[in-house]
Formats: sequence, structure tokens, C-alpha cells
Amino acid sequence: MQEPDIAAVQAHLLSAIDAAAALDALETVRVEALGKQGRVTQLLKTLGGMTPDQRQVEGPRIHALREAVTTAIATRKAALETAALDARLASERVDMTLPVDAAPTGTIHPVSQVMDELAEIFADLGFSVATGPEMETDWHNFSALNIPETHPARAMHDTFYLEGAGSNPDDRERPAVLRTHTSPVQIRAMLGHKPPLRIIAPGRVYRSDWDATHTPMFHQIEGLVIDKGITLGHLKWTLETMLKAFFERDDIVLRLRPSYFPFTEPSAEVDVGWSTVKGRRVLGGHGDDKGGGWMELLGSGMVHPRVLEAVDLDPREWQGFAFGVGVDRLAMLKYGMDDLRPFFEGDARWLKHYGFSALDMPTLSGGVGAA
Ligand code: DAH
Repeated sequence: MQEPDIAAVQAHLLSAIDAAAALDALETVRVEALGKQGRVTQLLKTLGGMTPDQRQVEGPRIHALREAVTTAIATRKAALETAALDARLASERVDMTLPVDAAPTGTIHPVSQVMDELAEIFADLGFSVATGPEMETDWHNFSALNIPETHPARAMHDTFYLEGAGSNPDDRERPAVLRTHTSPVQIRAMLGHKPPLRIIAPGRVYRSDWDATHTPMFHQIEGLVIDKGITLGHLKWTLETMLKAFFERDDIVLRLRPSYFPFTEPSAEVDVGWSTVKGRRVLGGHGDDKGGGWMELLGSGMVHPRVLEAVDLDPREWQGFAFGVGVDRLAMLKYGMDDLRPFFEGDARWLKHYGFSALDMPTLSGGVGAA
């Protein structure tokens, strides 16, 4: 039997391992050496046919060859893997200090825009912005607003109750519901500050509802004025001034229609007149005649004496008016969306189309509407 030149085999394999420039090339060499038909494997097989004396000499040499080749492959593999990782890290590196190479594409959401516009308009009328929690007590959301326990607004089908909270109409501490309107902020404002008071309260409200014009979360702005000698006339002037500024038209006409809210007496639904101009419906003007009409816009009224009593104000000394309006609805009307649901879907294309420039802040001097 011809003695294999183990030293030559080892030299050949080790240089092939060294020359392997990538992991797949290295794998080819490994199969060539250690695979079923590999050189080293075949050498190992020759041990079986040797005499004990031969085996004693050749055995250690062949095993040493296998050992050397296995170690060399492992070492080369580790080096190639490190190099691959380094290359990847180098190619994926992000330099945070580089200037952005495109204009910022984020936009202001129409809801934020409309809230900013209204805050600007009301600031000019001397109103400040008040807030309250979205997880509200039963008492603030309902009882203090003269909504008795049997009132339909309390029914499970549109109020989200908090788990385990139970509903205790007198509990002023423990949140029991997701607020169904911004009106509880009236209560918090009157408890927190002595009148005279002029506040607006923009924020999220929640009701279990879902279609093209209702989402389970939506936005309202509440308004509240408490002072002496306040009348419905003040309410109407304030709303008219607000809506003219908001829609940027002087021909906005309002109609106060008798209505019912538990927390106001009398209560009025406020409609705004619309007309048809060149075949399109536009807000402004009115006319039940010649293609026009009224559209319901907000709820309002004179603060109910029982609400004043609930916050320890004497109704003979203090009067006030309040109103509540849907922000999303105002946005849809002013900026021409007909479906509410995409407002809250976070679709970047919708936001890009309907969003506003962050640099275009609403100001009364520059026009509250976006350019
Ligand atoms: N809270 C009422 C609602 O969510 C809206 C409302 C109506 C608010 C009359 C008022 C008001 O302040 O006076 O439907």
C-alpha cells in the first residue's frame, strides 16, 4: 500500500482554507476535506486495513491532520464572520450629525389645527384654556351636570364605563367613566376658580359609536362664562363672533333653536345658515328659499341653577352660559372632509393631504385659517 503523503495533504488543505475568501468557499473546502468523500475522511478509512503496527504509526498522524484541518476551518470561519459583520456595520452606519437632506414632512393634524384656531379666537375674547381628566368620575361627568341616574346619556350603549369602578353618582374622587363630553370641565373650572370665569376646554371625549361621522373617540370644545347679569344675548354674540372668525366670513348667520340639555335652562341648539353658490353648498347667508338652509352645529344654553348649586355658587348672584361643539365636525366643515374615520387611522397619505404646515400658526392678525 502506498503511503499517503500526509504532510502534502495538510499543506494543500491549509492553504485552501486560508485562500477561502467567503463563507461559501470555506464550506466547499470543508466538504472536500471532511465530507463523506473528503480527503481526510478517506485517509481515516485506510486505518481499518492497516496492520496494528502500521496503525500505531499512521493513526496519530491522520488524527493530527484531521485536528489541524478542523481547527483551521473554525478559525477561518470566525475571521470571515467578523469581517462580514464589520462590513455590514460600516454599510449600515447612520451619522446622526449629518443635516437632513429633505424638508421635514410632518404636518399638523386638522384637529390640532382647529383647536389652535379656536384657542386663538377665544383668547382674543378673554377666554383661557381649562382642562380635565379623560377618565372622569360619575359625579363630574353626570350628576353635577344635573344628569339624573335615569338619563339616557348614562345608558351603557354610549358610555364607556371603567372596569371595576362601579357607578356611584356621589363619588367625586374615583374615575368611573371615559368622559362622554367636555362638560365636566365646567364643573372642575367652577370648583377650582371663583367667578367671574371665561374658559374654553378642548379635548378628547368617548362614546361607543362607529360610522362615517362617529368614532368612539372624538373631540369637543366646551365654553363656559360665569359672571353677573349674563344673558342669552351674550351667548349669541359670542358664538356669532367665534364662528365668523373661524369660518372667515362676515355673512355667517345663526339660528338658536329651543332644545333640551340637562345642564342648561333654557337650552338652544345653534344652527348655521348655508346657501348655494354656483351649485355648491357654502356656509354663510341663509335662505330657506333659493337653495339654502340650516345646519345644526352646536349645543348651548344658560347654565342650569342646579349646576351652579352643585358647585356652591348662588344662582341668584351668578349666571352664565355654556356651549359645546364638535371639533372634528368643525374641521370637516371648514376643510372639506366627508368621512371622520380617516382622522384617526394615521394614514400618512391622508395626513399629508389634509395636514397643515407646522410653521403656519393660526393668528388673528395673519388669519386663523391655514393658507
Ligand atoms: N355636552 C353636550 C354634548 O356632548 C354638548 C353641550 C350642549 C355642551 C349644551 C354645553 C351645552 O355646554 O350648554 O352633547
